[in-house]
Amino acid sequence: MVQLKLVALTLLVLWSWWNFEGAVGDPQTLILKFECSVVSVHDSANFFQNLNASLANLKSQLVSNQSKHFVTAQSTTGTDPVYAMFQCRNYLSNTDCVTCFAVAAATVRNCSTMNTARAIYDGCILRYENNDFFKQNLISSIHTLCGNQTADESTGFGAVGRQVLMDLQIATPKISGYFAATKTQVEGGAIYAIGQCAETLTQDTCLDCLSAEQRDLQDCLPSTNGRGFDPPVCFMRYSATPFFADNQTIDITSFLKQGEEGSIKKWAIIGGGVVGALLVVILIPLLPRHSGSQSPKRVPRSTIMGATELKAPTKYKYSDLKAATKNFSEKNKLGEGGFGAVYKGTMKNGKIVAVKKLISGNSNQMDDEFESEVTVISNVHHRNLVRLLGCCSIGEERILVYEYMANTSLDKFIFGKRKGSLNWKQRYDIILGTARGLTYLHEEFHVSIIHRDIKSGNILLDEQLQPKISDFGLVKLLPGDKSHIRTRVAGTLGYTAPEYVLQGQLSEKADTYSYGIVVLEIISGQKSTDVKVDDDGDEEYLLRRAWKLHERGMLLELVDKSLDPNNYDAEEVKKVISIALLCTQASAAMRPSMSEVVVLLSCNDLLQHMRPSMPIFIGSNSRLHRVISASTGSSTSNVTPSNSIVPVR
Ligand SMILES: *[C@@H]1O[C@H](CO)[C@@H](O)[C@H](O)[C@H]1NC(C)=O
Ligand SMILES: *[C@@H]1O[C@H](CO)[C@@H](O)[C@H](O)[C@H]1NC(C)=O
Ligand SMILES: *[C@@H]1O[C@H](CO)[C@@H](O)[C@H](O)[C@H]1NC(C)=O
Ligand SMILES: *[C@@H]1O[C@H](CO)[C@@H](O)[C@H](O)[C@H]1NC(C)=O
Ligand SMILES: *[C@@H]1O[C@H](CO)[C@@H](O)[C@H](O)[C@H]1NC(C)=O
Ligand SMILES: *[C@@H]1O[C@H](CO)[C@@H](O)[C@H](O)[C@H]1NC(C)=O
Ligand SMILES: *[C@@H]1O[C@H](CO)[C@@H](O)[C@H](O)[C@H]1NC(C)=O
Repeated sequence: MVQLKLVALTLLVLWSWWNFEGAVGDPQTLILKFECSVVSVHDSANFFQNLNASLANLKSQLVSNQSKHFVTAQSTTGTDPVYAMFQCRNYLSNTDCVTCFAVAAATVRNCSTMNTARAIYDGCILRYENNDFFKQNLISSIHTLCGNQTADESTGFGAVGRQVLMDLQIATPKISGYFAATKTQVEGGAIYAIGQCAETLTQDTCLDCLSAEQRDLQDCLPSTNGRGFDPPVCFMRYSATPFFADNQTIDITSFLKQGEEGSIKKWAIIGGGVVGALLVVILIPLLPRHSGSQSPKRVPRSTIMGATELKAPTKYKYSDLKAATKNFSEKNKLGEGGFGAVYKGTMKNGKIVAVKKLISGNSNQMDDEFESEVTVISNVHHRNLVRLLGCCSIGEERILVYEYMANTSLDKFIFGKRKGSLNWKQRYDIILGTARGLTYLHEEFHVSIIHRDIKSGNILLDEQLQPKISDFGLVKLLPGDKSHIRTRVAGTLGYTAPEYVLQGQLSEKADTYSYGIVVLEIISGQKSTDVKVDDDGDEEYLLRRAWKLHERGMLLELVDKSLDPNNYDAEEVKKVISIALLCTQASAAMRPSMSEVVVLLSCNDLLQHMRPSMPIFIGSNSRLHRVISASTGSSTSNVTPSNSIVPVR
């Protein structure tokens, strides 16, 4: 009798396990990806000692605390240190988590003496490296696996799925522990989905990673299941079949509120508590420096990582691109930039892309460079940077394929056809998003990329009118460790920092300067190079006019007349103009870094004690032209800046 009950109970339990694929009693050890680097360690005995110690440490943390899903360990004795990280999906029981770990640990041992390994399963991920990657905020490459069965479209699976993925992308980074699981009803069933990031990431990187995965997973729909993963950092999965128990879901509605409330609240809290300390931290780098030769702060950069870190770009077939752009027809042409013409292309699968045909140079030299630069650029993922999807190289032709931005570029909205169509909130969001994109390029990607050609024509807008910076990395990656003199100056008239135009000195601060000019354009609706007659009858171009108004305490005069004064906060507008003037100061060292700009924009009290110093004014356009041709011409030409600089008064 007792036995029978036991059997029945077991059957019941089994039935409830089988009712969903996973959760209780299933460590979900279906392997998704397994990678070893190709670089061997120096001393294998030492390495194995460290590896064994790290893995043992990970395991003991999991066993000793039942609620742990994310653990790191390091063992750094001798020449071959090991840093290891393990994460299991939060819906796994501790027993399943430990089982998944055991399987993963056995797998990474297959990498023998290689210095980096990653094993990704449905249920968990294990990763080790011989350098400290815990603080790395880097998205390397997104992989997507789509199921082979298609949902019945009449159930609304596709549309609901799209929303589910989008919501997870927004909510997961805001949840402590970076994990969310949801179940959403559709006709005749449900969509089960999870999002997860490594807990060591910043909220921004988690969002960037999930948003890249989310975009790729959208293409899986209406397939009944899909998985997106960036091996080291984030994971997203959806399925029509349950893979976790219903009681593991999290109500994410409170995290879905639009906008920046989270970060504003954060700032308000910090602002209330530690304004003093923060002021010191932030102001010190901005204070005038008298030491003249101060070189800009530089973020330590690792060498471009080994082959395992950077994903090779997608190679497109020339014939496909030709077909997509109707033979690069004039009708498909979106524009012509400094680097070549851009065409709208419709690929065979219906995906719309922007195809940039680079002006071909001396092709021999370009080939290697092209490959390596495209590899780097295509690994940059940030929501305020246009994504490079891949490339094509054939004969003399060098072609880049980008995501397509329907709403074209910012200049159209501030001077062009759609002038006056942006309200203050939209302008402010563009100003902030652009600063974030540049911060990523300068300080957060693992090689520092100076854009060199920030202008309103290079800032594209997506459907929500969020900015995405384009054309980065095309000129060149930041060479060496110092700003250095280059013989040829890239950039666009009116946006280029004076030290770069005049002396060829290049640093991230050159982008800060151009950014400041773009901000002034966004606020004023005036082109940086256009001359306007002011109240005194003086002809003034934008920067000079802004500075004059600043000196007279009349900053609001600068504001675009098409903006309704009832729709903006005058103090906020003044603050943003002041930040733009800080960015355009003559001394590169005194300009804020882009991450400081982001902080200044997000914070209200910080600006009071800062006064921008005077910019350098370069006379008229024709004179600027002359200076540029002198500095870009033969190396013997003498540039005499004093002839070209016309200070006010
Ligand atoms: C590390 O662990 C593996 C497997 O458990 C074992 O074969 C090896 O001898 C250990 N190595 C060291 C140096 O402890
Ligand atoms: C166990 O881990 C959880 C999650 O990391 C943590 O909040 C908790 O304090 C830990 N408990 C103990 C006893 O260490
Ligand atoms: C690792 O090696 C073992 C044999 O040592 C093998 O059974 C297993 O399939 C390998 N795993 C992977 C993922 O290559
Ligand atoms: C779909 O994939 C599953 C597992 O990957 C496989 O067993 C099945 O045969 C596939 N079905 C079709 C129609 O390809
Ligand atoms: C979830 O449900 C399972 C049975 O399906 C139960 O064993 C488990 O304790 C529940 N977990 C929570 C957190 O309520
Ligand atoms: C495509 O353009 C090339 C010249 O650029 C021309 O020779 C060729 O005939 C065109 N093909 C089609 C199908 O229009
Ligand atoms: C562009 O932006 C507007 C908002 O001003 C939006 O309504 C529209 O859908 C976007 N897309 C296109 C293709 O214009």
